[in-house]
Amino acid sequence: MEYLLNSEEMKRCDLTTIEKIGMPSMVLMERAALSVIEELASFDLTKVLIVCGSGNNGADGYAVARLLHLQKIAVDILFIGNEQKRSPENNQQKKIAEYYGVKSVKDIEINQYTTIIDALFGIGLSRPLSGKYAEVITKINQMNVEVLSVDVPSGISADNGKVMGCGIKATKTVTFAFNKVGLVLYPGAAYAGMVKVKDIGITEAGFEEEFPKVYSYTIEDLAKIPKRNPYSNKGTYGKILVIAGSKNMSGAAYFSAKAAYRMGVGLVRIVTPEENRQIIQSLLPEAIVTTYQKKQLDGDWLMDAINWASVIVIGPGMGGSEEAHYLLSKVLSISEVPLVIDADAINILAKEPGLLQHNKQNIILTPHIGEMSRLTDKPISEIAENIIEVAERFAKEKKLTCVLKDARTIVTEGNRGTYVNTSGNDGMATGGTGDVLTGVIAGLLGQGLSVVEAARLGVYIHGLAGDAAAAKKGAYGLLADDVCEAINDVVK
Ligand code: ACO
Repeated sequence: MEYLLNSEEMKRCDLTTIEKIGMPSMVLMERAALSVIEELASFDLTKVLIVCGSGNNGADGYAVARLLHLQKIAVDILFIGNEQKRSPENNQQKKIAEYYGVKSVKDIEINQYTTIIDALFGIGLSRPLSGKYAEVITKINQMNVEVLSVDVPSGISADNGKVMGCGIKATKTVTFAFNKVGLVLYPGAAYAGMVKVKDIGITEAGFEEEFPKVYSYTIEDLAKIPKRNPYSNKGTYGKILVIAGSKNMSGAAYFSAKAAYRMGVGLVRIVTPEENRQIIQSLLPEAIVTTYQKKQLDGDWLMDAINWASVIVIGPGMGGSEEAHYLLSKVLSISEVPLVIDADAINILAKEPGLLQHNKQNIILTPHIGEMSRLTDKPISEIAENIIEVAERFAKEKKLTCVLKDARTIVTEGNRGTYVNTSGNDGMATGGTGDVLTGVIAGLLGQGLSVVEAARLGVYIHGLAGDAAAAKKGAYGLLADDVCEAINDVVK
């Protein structure tokens, strides 16, 4: 697990390390500067420009300049800011750099530099950039040169990844102690380039009782995948009921069911219209298939199927027909087991939110931002810009686990920590991958993970499967089936 801090949480950690533990800020800066030097190994250091602001991010920049200068690398400093507003550490680092003979310049000469180090603003950015700051950032972005940002690309909010007026487009960002929310969420993630988190001795003691609110998973979290038991049978690993598909939409049911099997469940039963029977049976003979005819939903078969299941997926490719509506309302009112509600079932809920009145707090809802827009009546742009807050508010209000799908999918129950997913790639922006996700989550639920844990780990594994598939075939032209087939590679 990796914590993603906002600027306030990071400042608290900085201050605790300095004031309570007694580590001098100049020592932290020296270590920060040394770790930047380490990360410059792959850059062309023929001629370096370091752009420094008046705060402590700028102070880090002066320290880096001195260390490079002492390595006989040609380095200039460009200070942008107000001389009167330099922080005490900034003044001190400037004095030291000057003592060693580091040169300052008044403007950027285009085509002079092979690398630029951006130490203008870090986590202290508090308002949109304009004037001389915006001018210099625009100039740097127009130059064909590699840029390393110190802590956070200047102009990017560490809290949410928003561009505050304008922002540095970095090749690499070296951030300290912990990763930041704004380096993971878009557009900040795109501005940050490759992110390296460096330990400089800042302690977790700053969290005190209150741990950071936001986190992501790392490869070690795959240890949460339920273990197999040598003394087991197919009933041990869950019975997943997939209510999905409509006429001309058999694939959704197939992908969801297949992904559940690939995730390790013992039995999958698909409920789908009669038209899909033949195709599903030939594509996935492992599945039990129960079909229904238009306007013929009576009888005990539906109750039997619901009572049989230990987990239910409902919605993929299901359409908005009368039958789909009936199936959703029956499942919501009768079922006691964890539910994964996706796609068309979400659209039905958007029109009829009252259906959630029977919510037994075991629901995972997996909207993409378009579906969330229908659920909340908010424009897509507003949701994309405030993705964490929207997901948290919705989950809390509706008392469910929300998986808000986007380039960085959010998983939240609303009131405890919120998960931001960092696995996956743009090749996965293709039809059917959402259906695969429902199957992965259901597979983990079937093997006993809690609702929220299955959602987090499922999202992470699904992204890793996309990465494994892209590594094999390239992200371009990836198919949902490629992602499904790669689930085994991840679990292995
Ligand atoms: N336009 C103009 N000025 C702005 C704008 C803007 N849009 N936004 C913010 N500023 C100003 C702020 O007003 C602030 O100045 P002020 O303190 O006079 O109000 C200044 O920019 C803050 O800039 P930063 O350098 O980003 O913030 P800070 O001084 O808090 O330093 C930090 C950031 C801690 C150095 C972090 O980004 C970093 O690089 N950490 C590395 C580790 C490190 O060196 N830690 C020890 C530091 S010592 C310490 O924290 C006390």
